[in-house]
Amino acid sequence: MNTYTAEVCRIQDLTHDVRAIELRVLDPPTMTFKAGQFVSFEVPKEGQPRPVTRPYSIASPPAQDDRILLVLNLVQGGPGSSYLFRLRQGERTSFKGPAGAFYLRDDGERARVFIATGTGIAPMRSMILAQLHRQPDRPVTLFWGLRSQRDLYWQDELATLAAAYPRFTVVTTLSRPEPGWQGVTGRVTALLDERIQSVDNLAIYLCGGSAMITDVTARINAKGLCPIYREKYYDE
Ligand SMILES: Cc1cc2nc3c(=O)[nH]c(=O)nc-3n(C[C@H](O)[C@H](O)[C@H](O)COP(=O)(O)OP(=O)(O)OC[C@H]3O[C@@H](n4cnc5c(N)ncnc54)[C@H](O)[C@@H]3O)c2cc1C
Ligand SMILES: NC(=O)c1ccc[n+]([C@@H]2O[C@H](COP(=O)([O-])OP(=O)(O)OC[C@H]3O[C@@H](n4cnc5c(N)ncnc54)[C@H](OP(=O)(O)O)[C@@H]3O)[C@@H](O)[C@H]2O)c1
Repeated sequence: MNTYTAEVCRIQDLTHDVRAIELRVLDPPTMTFKAGQFVSFEVPKEGQPRPVTRPYSIASPPAQDDRILLVLNLVQGGPGSSYLFRLRQGERTSFKGPAGAFYLRDDGERARVFIATGTGIAPMRSMILAQLHRQPDRPVTLFWGLRSQRDLYWQDELATLAAAYPRFTVVTTLSRPEPGWQGVTGRVTALLDERIQSVDNLAIYLCGGSAMITDVTARINAKGLCPIYREKYYDE
């Protein structure tokens, strides 16, 4: 792991509580990483003498090695997300990385299924972009669970990718939609039950909170055996 100095080059509010932050790496000037890996920030925590460490997945693909994109939700009073939400364009920061074992594995001929809730989409975006670029003909499915319409983002980008890559399927499902939602409703667990009959030829990647990971893993195991790779963001 290296320590990187970086400059905030772009900030984009994606929803009421989700922000994308693009960091241009300055020193060293490029970063080599595997799609799905994360970087870690040491941030001050009120009332604690030592900083605490908070990891954030890289949402951009490895081919872009001079900048990384982070996407995170604001946790009120949370030291990590509050620190990153306080950063302003042009400001410098530092992080350690890359790290983590949640990256695209050699899954042979298996079709890949990515299942994310909330900002668990971050490493999936990196992996999907890398995968579509490397092997455009390999089937890839993304199931993404959010709460309601106000939590939606990146829908146009994903639709554009699905149009460009016929083997890429994306389904966003809302668990608590407001009236007027024409799309898929329910949790990703229900989607999995409806849309996946057999896991025989699949490799499944999960990212989000622990309850989703536990529940989805149980549903997959009930259908059969296949590789399951998991990145847990927090314990419920
Ligand atoms: C490998 C890894 C990669 C991660 N990548 C991302 C990422 O790309 N984007 C991202 O938003 N977060 C990511 N996280 C979570 C992130 O590291 C922090 O835990 C999160 O930002 C909350 O930290 P905090 O200090 O602000 O809040 P804390 O004071 O640590 O509060 C944590 C509590 O906030 C709640 N919470 C709300 N949203 C989250 C969330 N996204 N993650 C964790 N807890 C949450 C939970 O109830 C949790 O108990 C990742 C975690 C891991 C382990
Ligand atoms: N996003 C918000 O508006 C919001 C607001 C206040 C607090 N929070 C807190 O912030 C944290 C993280 O937020 P987030 O946006 O990452 O997650 P989230 O909003 O809590 O959930 C994202 C999606 O994951 C689903 N989910 C939760 N548990 C699941 C399970 N066991 N199996 C399958 N799907 C499951 C949710 O469904 P359900 O809706 O059915 O739970 C929702 O569709 C949580 O601790 C949450 O309580 C979020």
